[in-house]
Amino acid sequence: QAVRLCDYLPPDFLIDTVELDISLHRTETRVLARLRLRRNPEGRADAPLKLDGDGLALQSLKLDGCSLAAADYEAAPDSLVVHAPPAQPFTLEIETLVDPNGNTQLSGLYRSGSAYCTQCEAEGFRRITYFLDRPDVLSVYTTRIEADKGEAPVLLGNGNPVEAGDLPGGRHYAVWRDPFPKPSYLFALVGGDLGRIEGDFTTASGKKVKLAIHVEHGKESRADYAMDALVRSMQWDEQAFGREYDLDVFNVVAVSDFNMGAMENKGLNIFNDKYVLASPQTATDSDYAGIEAVIAHEYFHNWTGNRITCRDWFQLCLKEGLTVFRDQEFSSDQRSRAVKRIGDVRTLRLTQFVEDSGPLAHPVRPDLYREINNFYTATVYEKGAEIIRMLKTLIGDEAFRRGMDLYFERFDGTAATVENFLSCFAESSGRDLSHFAVWYSQAGTPLVRAETSWDPAARSLSLTLTQSTPPTPGQSEKKPLQMPITLALFDDKGEKLALVSDDATPEEKSRGTIELSTQSRTVRFKQLPARPTLSLLRGFSAPIRLEPAPDNADLVRLLAFDDDPFNRWQAAQSLALRSIFARVAALRGEGQTPDDSAFYAALQRLLDANDMDPAFAAQVLSLPSEIDLAREMGENVDPDILFSARSALRQELGGTLKPLLEEIHARFESSGSYSPDASSAGRRSLRNVALDLIAAGDKARGGVLAERQFEAASNMTDRLAALSTLALAGGEPRQRAFAQFYQTYQGDALVIDKWFALQATIPEEATTTLVRELMRHPDFSLANPNRIRALIGAFCSGNPTRFHALDGSGYELLANVVLELDPKNPQVAARLLSALRTWRTLEPKRRALAESALKRVAAGPGLSRDVSDIATRALGI
Ligand code: ARG
Ligand code: ZN
Repeated sequence: QAVRLCDYLPPDFLIDTVELDISLHRTETRVLARLRLRRNPEGRADAPLKLDGDGLALQSLKLDGCSLAAADYEAAPDSLVVHAPPAQPFTLEIETLVDPNGNTQLSGLYRSGSAYCTQCEAEGFRRITYFLDRPDVLSVYTTRIEADKGEAPVLLGNGNPVEAGDLPGGRHYAVWRDPFPKPSYLFALVGGDLGRIEGDFTTASGKKVKLAIHVEHGKESRADYAMDALVRSMQWDEQAFGREYDLDVFNVVAVSDFNMGAMENKGLNIFNDKYVLASPQTATDSDYAGIEAVIAHEYFHNWTGNRITCRDWFQLCLKEGLTVFRDQEFSSDQRSRAVKRIGDVRTLRLTQFVEDSGPLAHPVRPDLYREINNFYTATVYEKGAEIIRMLKTLIGDEAFRRGMDLYFERFDGTAATVENFLSCFAESSGRDLSHFAVWYSQAGTPLVRAETSWDPAARSLSLTLTQSTPPTPGQSEKKPLQMPITLALFDDKGEKLALVSDDATPEEKSRGTIELSTQSRTVRFKQLPARPTLSLLRGFSAPIRLEPAPDNADLVRLLAFDDDPFNRWQAAQSLALRSIFARVAALRGEGQTPDDSAFYAALQRLLDANDMDPAFAAQVLSLPSEIDLAREMGENVDPDILFSARSALRQELGGTLKPLLEEIHARFESSGSYSPDASSAGRRSLRNVALDLIAAGDKARGGVLAERQFEAASNMTDRLAALSTLALAGGEPRQRAFAQFYQTYQGDALVIDKWFALQATIPEEATTTLVRELMRHPDFSLANPNRIRALIGAFCSGNPTRFHALDGSGYELLANVVLELDPKNPQVAARLLSALRTWRTLEPKRRALAESALKRVAAGPGLSRDVSDIATRALGI
């Protein structure tokens, strides 16, 4: 039942061309597939032909134009076997019928609103027709789509349009041809009555490309920002990676029912409309940033994913980690690199570190799966991107770029592996990367302990770095990893003294980064004027946990003068963490409430500085979240006490900085028209963090300011920030604001999702009941993944005190939703259930409750493979 990397075999057959003739119908779509097949010289010589299917009904089958005798083949919903196919190339014609209306899984061909659309990654194509549905079978596709012209005037396929015309009976057709061989997971089609905006792009070599973004009628103007981001992405990939677009057209379609964020189908990207539609009135600054990043991500897949694809699904990180790295670099270049890095590390720690320390931990390249859809994870995506970033740091920018060029040159048109990829960088850098490659196969977050000792007589500092990686499921023994550790030493005035140790290798000295590749390493810095302040793991140069944090005096110094913005931010986070954990101890009667005045004074100086960057300052003022605290605590987690300790720090901080925060809130009030650019967004984010802290320090005053801001707001960012402050303040103003917000945006599903999510995250006892009520709200629907994520996802991941309520009501709610949703949409159900992956870290009472909720799900009747895989792995069975 499990698929293993070590069992990989090349396909026995190849499919050179695919001709599809698809006649769209709401419940009976006819799919005719004409496949040109031949035996793979690398396959097993007399293997039968076994095609994949999923819930298919075969209507007819012909081989080289002749119907097959019943004894010559076997058709089942999940496979089609031709027992003795010819030795020479042959043509197979397969006819199937599919029901788009009945497809609630949103995998394969389904309907979203009134449109027909597809999602084939990872294994959705087999829900449309029988096929060798694996990424190493590359074919040239021609797709003819036929539909009722009134119902679906727009017909889109992969590649370039070649022909279109009217048919009798009010029907019409379009033919699309994609000249680039591709695996089936990149197939797509769309049919519907859609509006569009158009654009143009001329590639560096002079090719003219027609761009279009298709959206629901009336939403056209909300696609302008996505179009702008698309054009910038196309430009950037030419400049940064020398990659040009390769078809005559590039189409993007926004649909409102989508399991994930978006999909990179060749020439026809299909998006969750959340990552396309934006207007100042309906989208926040972070929505705009998300659109820019996802548009770029899917576009960049054209080279890293489509032109070079994956040999098998174990290699998923080959396209995903690399493409995330590329979209992160794009956003860094378009916005603030420092703020982007801080945001990315926050996400990594919040999602990937949590995953990596629990029962669902797996390597960036897993070696076994039961359900591949459960491996589109933070580890594959985010840690996968960190590996690329480390590689670039280790070999330097130039060797990295040469390695990428080599990769594109050598593997274009193929289905590649991680080994293929790494071989290009070994060649371009002249380095042996076999040790580095362990990052791909070893799960778990390495812990690096840093010990320093200062020798006042010799005026030298020695630094000992020791690494260890805790065991993860199926991997009890861990090897040391090779990682870049970027560092700097400062004197007490903030002058930089050194970037590498005196005993660093010449290579390390030239790159300005030292490497840790053994279990332990000691390096020495000599002839220092005085004991220095050490800034370690600058820019978060490796995805590790570093302990211990410097002492508070050093943290305050780093917060004041570190010229690495990441570590400057990290210093504030470390100070806050230390304070909160001291407060936890105090609440338990095990110590004193800490004196944080030096921390507050440092924040005050940062905010007062002339060169203060608002976006950066907002990040510094955003304290570690409750999820961060739970992860740092690691075991015996009690979300209530973490909430109390964090609230106490917020209250004190808000009170102490009140005059300055009020001044900032007044000074950064937006004037003029809204622009989503990074620096305008940065000013809004600082102002809104200020509002949040004012309210933390003085509920009444915060409430007054928030109500005023809610009324006066000229954009969604400011309005939603005010609403979230009012949500915490409670009482009459909260009631009024939520009612008014609903009135204003009723009918605008993406905005109503914000309304659902904010209510689901109110940290009050009544919230669980409120969430149950909202599930019966007419705007809520278990059929729509965005609604589910907005209400249930936000409750489970964004409201720790309620989700982990001591009476088990939060877990019960989740288990009920998962069991109800599973028969309809197993992918989304499985994703929701993974909120329980941290159950073992909880204190005993909650741990028992969470375990029994997981067990109840695991025992559910007729469970999908998706949910049963998550439930059993989470339970460790
Ligand atoms: N390749 C898509 C992206 O990252 C994600 C598609 C995942 N789909 C799935 N069913 N697991 O850009
Ligand atoms: Zn991707």
